[in-house]
Amino acid sequence: MMLSHRVGRACHVLVLVLCLSAAEDFDWSANNHDSFYYGTFPNGFSWGAGSSAYQTEGAWDKDGKGLSIWDVFTHKKGKTFLNDTGDSSCEGYYKFKDDISLIKEMNLNHYRFSISWPRIMPTGIRSDHVNEKGVKYYSALIDELLEHNITPIVTLYHWDLPQVLQEKYGGWQNISMINYFNDFANLCFERYGDRVKYWITFNNPWSVAVEGYETGEHAPGLKLRGTGAYRAAHHIIKAHAKVWHTYDTQWRNKQRGMVGISLSGDWGEPVDITNQKDIEAAERYVQFYLGWFATPIFHGDYPQVMKDFIGKKSAQQGLGTSRLPTFSSQEKSYIKGTSDFLGVGHFTTRYITQKNYPFNRGSTYFSDRDVAELVDPRWPDPGSEWLYSVPWGFRRLLNFIKTQYGNPMIFITENGVSEKMMCTELCDDWRIQYYKGYINEMLKAIRDGVNVKGYTAWSLLDKFEWDEGYSERFGLYYVDFRSKNKPRYPKASVQFYKRIIKSNGFPNQREVENWKTKATETCSTSNQLLAAEEQRNTAANILRLIHDPLTSHMEMVTEVVVPTVCTLCILISAVFLMFLLRKRN
Ligand code: NOJ
Repeated sequence: MMLSHRVGRACHVLVLVLCLSAAEDFDWSANNHDSFYYGTFPNGFSWGAGSSAYQTEGAWDKDGKGLSIWDVFTHKKGKTFLNDTGDSSCEGYYKFKDDISLIKEMNLNHYRFSISWPRIMPTGIRSDHVNEKGVKYYSALIDELLEHNITPIVTLYHWDLPQVLQEKYGGWQNISMINYFNDFANLCFERYGDRVKYWITFNNPWSVAVEGYETGEHAPGLKLRGTGAYRAAHHIIKAHAKVWHTYDTQWRNKQRGMVGISLSGDWGEPVDITNQKDIEAAERYVQFYLGWFATPIFHGDYPQVMKDFIGKKSAQQGLGTSRLPTFSSQEKSYIKGTSDFLGVGHFTTRYITQKNYPFNRGSTYFSDRDVAELVDPRWPDPGSEWLYSVPWGFRRLLNFIKTQYGNPMIFITENGVSEKMMCTELCDDWRIQYYKGYINEMLKAIRDGVNVKGYTAWSLLDKFEWDEGYSERFGLYYVDFRSKNKPRYPKASVQFYKRIIKSNGFPNQREVENWKTKATETCSTSNQLLAAEEQRNTAANILRLIHDPLTSHMEMVTEVVVPTVCTLCILISAVFLMFLLRKRN
């Protein structure tokens, strides 16, 4: 769970009066939060769902795969909820054909997945070894998608760095990652680029940097406060740019694809829109989040506000230089313009106000920003602690991207909501509500002129949710993790999403209201199926418990008692024989 979200949650809760208005064009000062817009998406808009390798594949040590930092991290005690691991997860490695049928069933246009670097390069280093079995797996997955007319959108790095690179070099703290990552990307272009036309270099580098190297909540679990995240981000941005240039110079002519990055960003809304300090704090929040990566990629350098704040705080600490690394002028022009499209992952919003952090308490990424996060207690909060449903924040973020970065082509790479583990509820009306609201705000953003070309629901399946293990379920499909075969069951949101796709939007009120009723009608049958399956599982588990002492008893009899008795018998007979022979003599 993101620390910033924890901080936000812990902060005093804010009650704000929300009023209604129905503005046609986007207006930053308008409070048009609750209106619903009936209409459809542009022709050719692409609908999809997503997953990532470590979260779904399982098969962590199969067919020559090397270790990733997540394999090692989750095998240490106390790192994840209930010490859950992704060792088998959804068994997606073995069930990809079944999963593609589910995708087909929903009539999706694209599927977003990621390639596990150590599955195809076990040490992360191309010259060491390329694992052809791993290469084949993704090739088969891509072929199967294309055969069903589903466009693959492929992420190269969804957090599973090869462990060897972490151990040998310190992972993203080390500049050498840039070349290793470029070699890996190059191999992917070489082997799959004839069929894959949408590449995402990094997924959510904010999390990699902050949670991997600053708070240590994610693999590799380092707590290099105030420096680790900035350093990791610096190398990631350069690695992204290098891979884009590699594609541009070596592959683009032949393969005619696109390379982008997927950035995540919460929206930050000023607590008081008439207060200049709040307005600046909210802007800072977004710049330290999405802007940290987007500004170098679109404009060549870090946001001015990051340079100012981190520079000022470093000076207060008595440091000679800023903790935020700098780009040389050649690097700036090399990095600028290296995204053919922008991937956006968005889940939630915060209210933001100014808060001064005294520098003597130690410097961190969080204290560098000088902001406090607040939430409205009326915002729905069905699953993950940090995830409040605030659809209007989505439209605002998209408009921010449009104005800040010159209206780039956007693919929504992640958007969705979770539920808690104990909630085996397939009639997920809160998820329907979430998707309905967020997709509608995206439609409004398109009407505002934002260039959104596709939407990816997050996620296709319930899966391993990083440090939260299996306790948070984001899937459109429910996965029964307790069953060996990991069966999938559709939640009601599958039906709802299907209808949005079929109509390419929200045609009219009567129809849309009908969808929700229809979607929740069918789910009760699936709910019964799942309940029956769960009962069977519980019974099987009880039997196993009863059966287990019996089995081990039997094993002891065959493996210890029988051989011992036999040996004793042989010994006794030998002694007896000797005794008889002696007596006869
Ligand atoms: C963003 C991450 O990229 C994804 O892997 C994760 O499942 C979602 N956040 C939800 O936490």
